[in-house]
Amino acid sequence: MFRSHTNGELRITHKDNSVTLCGWVQKTRDLGGMTFVDLRDRYGITQIVFNMDDDASLCEEARKLGREYVIQVEGVVTERSNKNNNIPTGDIEITASKLVLLNASKTPPFTIENDTDGGEELRMKYRYLDLRRNPVQENIKLRHQIGLATRNYMNNLDFLEIETPYLIKSTPEGARDFVVPSRMNEGQFYALPQSPQTFKQLLMVSGYDRYFQIVKCFRDEDLRADRQPEFTQIDCEMAFVDQEDILNTFEGLIKHLFKAVKGIELPEVARMTFDEAMEQYGCDKPDLRFGMKFNNLNDATKNKGFKIFDEAEIVLGICAEGAASFSRKQLDKLTDFVKRPQIGAKGLVYVKYNEDGSFKSSVDKFYNQEDLKIWADSCNAKPGDLLLVLSGELNSTRKQMNELRLHLGDVLNLKNPNEFKPLWVIDFPLLEWDEESNRYHAMHHPFTSPKPEDLNKIHTNPGEVKANAYDMVINGVEIGGGSIRIHDKEIQNEMFKLLGFTQEEADEQFGFLMNAFEYGAPPHGGIAFGFDRICAIFGGSDSIRDYIAFPKNNSGRDVMIDAPSDIDKTQLNELNLALDIVKV
Ligand code: AMO
Repeated sequence: MFRSHTNGELRITHKDNSVTLCGWVQKTRDLGGMTFVDLRDRYGITQIVFNMDDDASLCEEARKLGREYVIQVEGVVTERSNKNNNIPTGDIEITASKLVLLNASKTPPFTIENDTDGGEELRMKYRYLDLRRNPVQENIKLRHQIGLATRNYMNNLDFLEIETPYLIKSTPEGARDFVVPSRMNEGQFYALPQSPQTFKQLLMVSGYDRYFQIVKCFRDEDLRADRQPEFTQIDCEMAFVDQEDILNTFEGLIKHLFKAVKGIELPEVARMTFDEAMEQYGCDKPDLRFGMKFNNLNDATKNKGFKIFDEAEIVLGICAEGAASFSRKQLDKLTDFVKRPQIGAKGLVYVKYNEDGSFKSSVDKFYNQEDLKIWADSCNAKPGDLLLVLSGELNSTRKQMNELRLHLGDVLNLKNPNEFKPLWVIDFPLLEWDEESNRYHAMHHPFTSPKPEDLNKIHTNPGEVKANAYDMVINGVEIGGGSIRIHDKEIQNEMFKLLGFTQEEADEQFGFLMNAFEYGAPPHGGIAFGFDRICAIFGGSDSIRDYIAFPKNNSGRDVMIDAPSDIDKTQLNELNLALDIVKV
């Protein structure tokens, strides 16, 4: 028997038991007559004591142990005279009678403790050591629990978990594909799935009317804190459902996860149309933990001689509660913030609604107290509040105001990490105009169904057609998205045409799906959640990397195994890739 207990298990009730423990040496302390060793495994830390008086040579051996040595210890559980209330095993220690060195260790490049001295890159390079640290282990455990609770919920509702292939053909989720050369099919490539979208739709045609899968997806896109090139989805599809069925089923999933994993009763999931979200928050994933909705000040601000507002397509104001006391310096900082090139506003107008009911603004030259009172009323402001106003072209002003609102959420401490505000954003547009390619793209993906009542606009006013598409947002993070699909071959063909596919291109890329639709495709729809993002929200972090055992860095590299890397000539030859690369 290697071990009788783990290092997180022994309590005062085990006093006088003979035990065998294994683990890693976190720390040794040599006090002359005694040597203490903190022995660690993933369950906790137990103190081992070696007594010079009991066994001098054993104590000598213990003194030589370095950090991260792997050892086995036999001994008796004894009560500690100096109890440690910070750890569950802190009442006891093991008085050692035998020590076996199972393996030595080089000195680790950073300390393996809760607060480590290792920088990000170093910890990524030695990820297997970083994974020994308690906070990282907690994240990995959290991920496991969320996965398990997901499977339980889905299984209870009769969903089947079905695996779909990784070596496939391009899937249209809007990013670039990672491709894999085929040795047996010279000059041809597989694409790794950006999602199992087409396969889950085929499964609906096959009659598996409730499918789900916790599945890896691959997207070659620019990385951010909430994006990895390979990430995991909770991918789901249902047949014989309408949008309401899907929203209810998956609202249920999210509520179940919060309850089962965090013990939290999630509030009702709010609903907002895409248009409302853009109008009131300037983005399609508003953080509802705080207010500061946008107010249209066009009528209130025009024709008073202030050219910037007069010429603007939109003048938007938000009310920062209680912020009239901001100093000149704080206001300058906000102005600098919106003028940063990433945000791109030309300036920021402020109005202080003083406690005595008077107003002080940066545009006092153009607007009198009565004018400013109208602004304040339009924004539902009260004495003590601060109005912030931006103007310009509609879309860019909304974007800038969204950034300012989120920034103020930080500055005013309004983003409570223990509050969760879930939201369905519904009625997304079917299409979005792409300036670069000068044509429409599917806003979600090409299989998304237009709203039947908007079908008549599809040729005359395609930009106005809404889709049966929805996103779930929590605290400003898009955690999932899906849609009701087109199950009619004719409408699907129309859609491909609208998106600029020729008949040949559509056949070549999606012929298999179109063929399947000729054999009795049921009405269907679904959703996919970003599993890593759910983990990060649950763990209270902005970065999904913390919840992935072996993540990539910002350049898409795994610095531990050093991938991507060159491959040798023989392999290139076998794959018929040993050609001079010619750019076409
Ligand atoms: P979508 O592209 O919206 O939809 O993806 C679903 C969810 O996956 C998460 N996500 C990511 N997470 C981490 N890194 C990434 N690079 C990344 N990209 C996306 C997001 C997102 O909401 N097939 C459709 C779903 C459907 O229609 O059923 C799809 O993939 O949380």
